[in-house]
Amino acid sequence: MTKKILAVYPGNFDPPTNGHLDIISRASGLFAEVMVAVTNNVNKVHTFTLQEKIDLLQESANHFKNVKIVSFSGLLANYLETINSFVVIRGLRAISDFEYEFQMALMNRKLNKNIETIFLMPDQSYTFLSSSMVKEIAMLGGSTAAFVPKCVEEKLKKYIAILSKNV
Ligand code: PNS
Repeated sequence: MTKKILAVYPGNFDPPTNGHLDIISRASGLFAEVMVAVTNNVNKVHTFTLQEKIDLLQESANHFKNVKIVSFSGLLANYLETINSFVVIRGLRAISDFEYEFQMALMNRKLNKNIETIFLMPDQSYTFLSSSMVKEIAMLGGSTAAFVPKCVEEKLKKYIAILSKNV
């Protein structure tokens, strides 16, 4: 039996990278509908606002017809219940991601026993890629063109131009 599954890909996306887009593309091919659910991870310092992150994802992922960009606040487990979805997608880049992801998947399942987390591996060329590394490269004057969609690259340049005016 094939079920029409609505899968949710939650994340901080500060900013979205080509690695995130790779996971979105894979999830889009596997599930009937994919919601990319943007939130502000309370454990991280934010560079871009929630709305900026949503806009960047919308621009970068608008060619996937079964993908919607949404936002949520509070617990992911509660949000999933409100939209009647129990499938969470997360990207796994390396073994170093595993412990945190394993903990989060089991905690979400503890909060709601119906939640299943499915891990997708990005193309190996993205295994080294992270939003924080992209920001560091941009801040130190390096090119991020190979790592992020064009709109993110431009947004990073604008962000850095504003920062350098204020120092
Ligand atoms: O991109 P990130 O920072 O790895 O994403 C982590 C995220 C946002 C998916 C996670 O922090 C999350 O689900 N936050 C919502 C609050 C929540 O449910 N926390 C308990 C997770 S076990």
